[in-house]
Amino acid sequence: MRIYDIIKKKRDGYSLSTEEINYFVENYTNGNIPDYQASALLMAIYFNKMDKRETLDLTKAMINSGDTFDLSNINGIKVDKHSTGGVGDSVTLILGPMIAACGVPFVKMSGRGLGHTGGTLDKLESIKNFKVELSNDEFVRNTNDINISICSQTGNITPADKKLYALRDVTATVENLSLIAGSIMSKKLAIESDAIILDVKVGSGAFMKNIDDAISLANEMVDIGNSYGRKTIAIVTNMDEPLGKAIGNALEVKEAIETLQGNGPNDLYELCLKLGSKLLLLAKKVDKEEDGRNMLINVIKSGKAYEKLIELVQHQGGDISYVKDTDLLPKAKYIVEVKSKVEGYVKSIDAEEIGKAALYLGAGRETIESKLDLAVGIVLNKKVDDKVELGEVLAYIHLNNMEKAEEVERRLHEIYLIGDKNNAKKQLIYKEIE
Ligand code: URA
Repeated sequence: MRIYDIIKKKRDGYSLSTEEINYFVENYTNGNIPDYQASALLMAIYFNKMDKRETLDLTKAMINSGDTFDLSNINGIKVDKHSTGGVGDSVTLILGPMIAACGVPFVKMSGRGLGHTGGTLDKLESIKNFKVELSNDEFVRNTNDINISICSQTGNITPADKKLYALRDVTATVENLSLIAGSIMSKKLAIESDAIILDVKVGSGAFMKNIDDAISLANEMVDIGNSYGRKTIAIVTNMDEPLGKAIGNALEVKEAIETLQGNGPNDLYELCLKLGSKLLLLAKKVDKEEDGRNMLINVIKSGKAYEKLIELVQHQGGDISYVKDTDLLPKAKYIVEVKSKVEGYVKSIDAEEIGKAALYLGAGRETIESKLDLAVGIVLNKKVDDKVELGEVLAYIHLNNMEKAEEVERRLHEIYLIGDKNNAKKQLIYKEIE
């Protein structure tokens, strides 16, 4: 078999056989296929797509590229969550501690930023010494102790996804249903949880720009999860404007902590309540979604969810003073106010463009080698449907290089569309797929 022939076959629109997919995944992972040929195949897949069977084969090959985490020594129904990627999406940092505080084991393998979207691991590294690499034993021990562990693709877990994810990030090959489904589901299935909730984002800041594509992705991932005997559900949610107000690694950690303290932005909190109440149902902790919601509200009000984040940080070697005093988190040297030049209502805030502006500031990666600036980003002062007066602050730019201020300010004026009040009400949740 030759990789050249596989690239050509996909370029010409044919389905790849199971053997060809296995050959590609195995040989790219072990370094026999160079990045330039893998990039060409990814681009061919991007344009010509994969069918359901190819997507399942890709997922299996990625799981088989490495080890799996055996979680059979963890008591209880273990739940996992994944987002298909969004802007300002710090849900894991909030939802994980909330679920764990309700007494349900939350087991999660997270990723890094991808394209214009952020990644939980990058965010967690804003907390000094937080260790994202855990062995299977450490993962099990932590979860048995405190009901939560969050780790990276440690050691040899889905090494194929680790390499392909980084390559897709810099070759404009992220937005493909099969590549996203394979990437997410291989990670989810390599960690042997019992139930999985998928937050499938749709809108300008998501990889899926329209609702039909998002529903197809959700269905495909739910089918893959269920075919492995995991109870899997998906919720299709709005990513037209950023979630919450903060975009950027340390800024999002701060916002997540505030949300756990009961002072978070409404949309971010509501999404955590929605996903969380479904997870509590899946874990058989409650019989009704409403009861799950109340249980989650209680762990916020009692401070138990916030305490759980502190325990998580402590168990993974992080400095808990960063959670107790968010002033210690990486901070940008400069904060620039972007003031409105008109009055009216915010009609839209293009989430993808905001994500790209944050990436330009250093919050995301331009190349595989890029080093992140964890401090930088954007904090929105106005969200969609808010009233804006002339000269009012729309957003704050947090930056370390003042030379970038003018460009980001210019972009933000374009990103914020201000006009008459929207007629339609904002919708956070579009569809549930079980
Ligand atoms: N999240 C992932 O883990 N992989 C993708 O491809 C997209 C989002």
